[in-house]
Amino acid sequence: MIENTKDTDLILPVVVVGHVDHGKSTLLGRLLFETDCLPEGKIDSIKAMVNRRSTQFEWSFVMDAFKAERDQGVTIDTTQIELRTQDRDYLLIDAPGHEQFLKNMITGAANAAAALLVIDVVEGVRDQTHRHAYLLKLLSVQEVVVIVNKMDLVDHAQKPFEDVARQIRSYLEELDIQCQTVIPVTARDGDNLVVLSERMSWYRGSTVVKALEALSPASLLIDKPLRLPVQDIYHFDSRRIVVGRIESGRLKVGDEVSFSPTGKVATITGLEQWNAARKISAGAGESVALTLDRELFIERGQIIHSMNAPHVTHDLTVRLIWLARTPLELGAKLQVKFMTSTHQVTIAAIKAVIDLEELTFSAAERVQQNTVAEVVLHSRTPFAVDSVDELAPTARGVLFDTFNVVGGCVALNLPTSSDSRNIYPTGHRISVEQRVLANGHKSGVLWFTGLSGSGKSTLAMALEQELFKRGWQAYVLDGDNVRDRLNRDLGFSPDDRSENIRRVAEVARLLADSGNIVITAFISPYQVDRERAREIAPGAFHEIYIKAGVQVCEDRDPKGLYAKARRGEISEFTGVDAPYEAPEQADLVIDTENKSVEECLEMLASYVDDAFAYVPSGRKHVA
Ligand code: ADX
Repeated sequence: MIENTKDTDLILPVVVVGHVDHGKSTLLGRLLFETDCLPEGKIDSIKAMVNRRSTQFEWSFVMDAFKAERDQGVTIDTTQIELRTQDRDYLLIDAPGHEQFLKNMITGAANAAAALLVIDVVEGVRDQTHRHAYLLKLLSVQEVVVIVNKMDLVDHAQKPFEDVARQIRSYLEELDIQCQTVIPVTARDGDNLVVLSERMSWYRGSTVVKALEALSPASLLIDKPLRLPVQDIYHFDSRRIVVGRIESGRLKVGDEVSFSPTGKVATITGLEQWNAARKISAGAGESVALTLDRELFIERGQIIHSMNAPHVTHDLTVRLIWLARTPLELGAKLQVKFMTSTHQVTIAAIKAVIDLEELTFSAAERVQQNTVAEVVLHSRTPFAVDSVDELAPTARGVLFDTFNVVGGCVALNLPTSSDSRNIYPTGHRISVEQRVLANGHKSGVLWFTGLSGSGKSTLAMALEQELFKRGWQAYVLDGDNVRDRLNRDLGFSPDDRSENIRRVAEVARLLADSGNIVITAFISPYQVDRERAREIAPGAFHEIYIKAGVQVCEDRDPKGLYAKARRGEISEFTGVDAPYEAPEQADLVIDTENKSVEECLEMLASYVDDAFAYVPSGRKHVA
């Protein structure tokens, strides 16, 4: 074992790529052995197994043994092994194929900034080598050490090595990838792994270990702007804890941070790490749990950042590699995942496909399997991403088609954030107080939520009438009415419902701003959408649960829709084959199952009195 006297506690992740038969596993197995990194008894147990099966010992069995161990544990589709050298620790990441490689690079499971690229000296640079190299480029892996393997097959001769070295160097150069060094290796025999081989006396460059040690330190990401994609939010007693992994930059207790894409700001009040004592600061690569000084609407997928913000956009130009057999077409609908946020996207444009041999761009109508292209993704939910040349981890996305990975992508040269849209919101000259004075009541949003048939529209219209009679400004936004016009482009998928609620919340905000009491009547089945709506009209939002069970609503069935849904004529019908998440802490619950319309209306009117009546200072309000 090597004494740990290293200057850094950072492990450098290095991804290992190469054609399946070019000897990756042999290289890794032998490298572990040569650097004394194999657990005690590993080789003996493999030798015993080899004897039992009367086969020949192979170094790749070491990797097979690691894989077997891994397969008994949690399913991850890469083998990650730790390599320790005198100067530094490494995490060598071996992904079996493109798909796993992409998935792991993109999900952050393997955030490597350097790579080992293995090429068989006899086979030379192949299509797959080009694709691997391009993938490295695509994922902004900046430094590559090339290993030209199986030198024993060419009698350790210099010429075949130089030929391959020249080809790969020039390809990497064209891709603008820094090629650290190209090393002739016979992995099986350990030649040029840790010590220079006598059999290749013509080579006096770096060994593999020396080349690894020459890679840039892993700490670079820590010096970049803060990016902490929110993974989850936990509720512990009264505290809300936001958890995630810091992809870049650092943070400390007391820092003011922002959330993208909402633009909200908060101060970090506490910082904890799993299995560790409380800390006051943390940096790239660490998973943290934060507490904040205020209650914000935070959800998985948002990015916590410092002053320097990610780009927020609905139309994103990406460079992608397409892996699915069926070509990618204009207008195709897919999902893309950037860190912890998933978006439903439409291919809005195919700008060019890239020829990997020639590295040229050309126009195309579709993108074939294993092809790289530049396309524009359109999403209704805003992307919060970086461009790959600025900050690679938060620029990488993986493309899904229902359940399968169909490609990977990186965000390209994005316009600078909101200012570039040339939008300059203007302030009104009439203050909120002036409107309250003029109307004689406060304004805000009464957000009715409940199943179809629970009585939302009936009660909303009755309340509107009641308030109108008093001379109050009130207006109902009703699901069917809004869907008939403003939101006629939306259906009932979770995404469409989200967008429905977002737009309605924005309209409600404007109406409330103008002095109205806005009554909204939407099923709004998802808690997270309602929370977002509350954020849109902060301080003036009242969640009112119009409560009736599915059975009662189905018995009422005023529009005959439950019957239709049961017959299968309507799909994704709330309460039948789509969920309804009842509010956990509504501001008011109106039980329409057990109360008459009049009683319900009375409760609502009294709530409105309490919440919206204007009481001039100095006078007592009598309801
Ligand atoms: S929400 O889920 O997005 O909030 P919203 O309140 O706008 O729904 O619309 C609900 C109305 O749309 C219902 O009252 C009903 O008339 C109609 N509708 C049509 N299809 C569906 C469906 N699949 N699920 C629920 N409502 C539907």
